[in-house]
Amino acid sequence: MRILVVGKGGREHALVWKLAQSPRVTRVFCAPGNAGTAGQAENVPIDSTPNDFDRLIRFAKKEKIGLVVIGPEEPLAHGLTDAMQAEGLRVFGPTKNAARLEASKVFAKNLMRQADVPTAEFRTFDHPQLARHYIESREYPLVVKADGLAAGKGVIVCSTKQEALQAIDRIMVQEEFGAAVGRQVVVEKRLEGQELSLFSLVSGRTILPLPPTQDHKAVYDGDQGPNTGGMGAYCPAPIATPELLQQIEEQILVPTVSAMKHARMSYRGLLFTGLMLTNQGPRVLEYNVRFGDPETQPLLMRLKSDLLDLLEAVVDERLGDIDESRIEWDPRPAVCVVLCSQGYPGPYVKGRVIQGLEEVARLPDVQVFHAGTRQEGGVVLTDGGRVLGVTALGETLADAKRRAYEAVARISFSGMHYRKDIADKALAVTPTPPVTSAPEGATS
Ligand SMILES: Nc1ncnc2c1ncn2[C@@H]1O[C@H](COP(=O)(O)OP(=O)(O)O)[C@@H](O)[C@H]1O
Ligand SMILES: [Mg+2]
Repeated sequence: MRILVVGKGGREHALVWKLAQSPRVTRVFCAPGNAGTAGQAENVPIDSTPNDFDRLIRFAKKEKIGLVVIGPEEPLAHGLTDAMQAEGLRVFGPTKNAARLEASKVFAKNLMRQADVPTAEFRTFDHPQLARHYIESREYPLVVKADGLAAGKGVIVCSTKQEALQAIDRIMVQEEFGAAVGRQVVVEKRLEGQELSLFSLVSGRTILPLPPTQDHKAVYDGDQGPNTGGMGAYCPAPIATPELLQQIEEQILVPTVSAMKHARMSYRGLLFTGLMLTNQGPRVLEYNVRFGDPETQPLLMRLKSDLLDLLEAVVDERLGDIDESRIEWDPRPAVCVVLCSQGYPGPYVKGRVIQGLEEVARLPDVQVFHAGTRQEGGVVLTDGGRVLGVTALGETLADAKRRAYEAVARISFSGMHYRKDIADKALAVTPTPPVTSAPEGATS
C-alpha cells in the first residue's frame, strides 16, 4: 500500500518513520515534509491550505494512495477529509464537522456540558461587554480562550481580573488572533493540577485509549515563561494509574464519543483529550482532533505493532475487532526533548546549520524526529521554531531521560535552546530504581 502523510512537523516525521516500517507499506509520501521525512518518505512540495486541496487530491489519485493520514488540525478543520473522501480516497482523520471539537472551543465546551463531561465551569460570549461583566462577578482566577484555531496562542491563563479583562480586549477588540477566531470566547475557571495528554483511537462507538503521555508547554525549566507548541514529552506518564484511566474512559471518553454520534458527527480518527488532574478528579481542558506534537514521538517510539493496522481499523470501522491486549508496546519508557531556534516561541531565526545528526543516528534506541528543518545541498538547516525532537528509550524513565540528553549534547546549531528538566515531574512522583538494574520485564 502507498501512504500519503500530510504535514511537516515532528509528529509527521514520527508517523512517516513508523508507517514506513509496516511490511504492507510499499511507499510513503509526505506533503510537504521536512529534511527528516525525506529519509523514509518522498517529500511532495504541496502544502495543505484549502487552496492546495485540489492538488493534494490529484496527487493522491495519480499515485494510487491507499491511505492518507492527515497530521495537523488546520486541514482537518477546513474539511480535507471530506474533500478527499468525496473523491473516493481513504483518509485517517475526522470530518470537518467532527473536527469542530478542536476548531471551536465554544462547540467543545457546549458538548461537554450537554454530555455531562467534567470540565472547568465556564460561560461563552460573543460580545466583550457581557464577558467583562461576568469576569467582574467571579471570585476565582480565570482562563480566557479565543474560540477558533490560534496555533496554541489563543488561550490566556490569568491571575487577576485585570489580566482577564485585558485578555478579552486582546481577543475580541484588538482581534489579535484574527476576527473570526476571536468572535466568541470561553471564560472558564482556572484549575490547578498536572496536565495529561490521552490519545485514543476512535471509530464510531469504539474507543481504544493509547498509553498516556505528558507534554511540557512552557518554554523554560520549571514550567516558567510563555507557552510553546510543546518542549518535550514522555510516555507512559506514571501519574495516570490504571484506575485513573478507567475513570477517564467512563466519565469522559464514552460520553464524549456517544454525544458526537448522537449529534450525527460520528468521530473517526485520533481523539486527543487534554486533561487537568485536579484534587476533585480529572477535568477536560480541551479536545484535539489529531495526534499531538511532541507526544506522538515518544508514543510511537514504544509502539511495536503495525501502526497501519490500527489506522486502517479506524478508517474501516473495524476498531472493535482489534484486541487491545494484542497491541504490543515496548515496556521501556521514552523521553523526547525538543530543540528550538533562538527566539522561539517569539520571532525566531532560521537557516542555521545543524551539526551532529550523523553521529546521533548511530546511537541505539534513539530517534531524532525533524520538525522545522530543510535540506540544502549536503547540509540540514533550521527552518522553524521547533527544530528537532530527540527521543530515547531507556530501561527506566530516568535512564530514557539520561539517554535523550546524551544525544542532545551531540547536536548543535547556533542559538539552539531546550528545556533541561523534561520528565522531572514524573521522576519526582515515582522514584526509579538505579539505571543499572533493569526492572522486571523491561526487555522483551
Ligand atoms: N481551565 C484551565 N485552568 C488552568 N490552566 C488552563 C486551563 N485551560 C487551559 N489551561 C492552560 O492553557 C494551555 C492551553 O489551553 P488549551 O485549552 O489546551 O488550548 P490550546 O492548546 O488550544 O492553546 C493548557 O495546556 C493549560 O496549560
Ligand atoms: Mg492544548
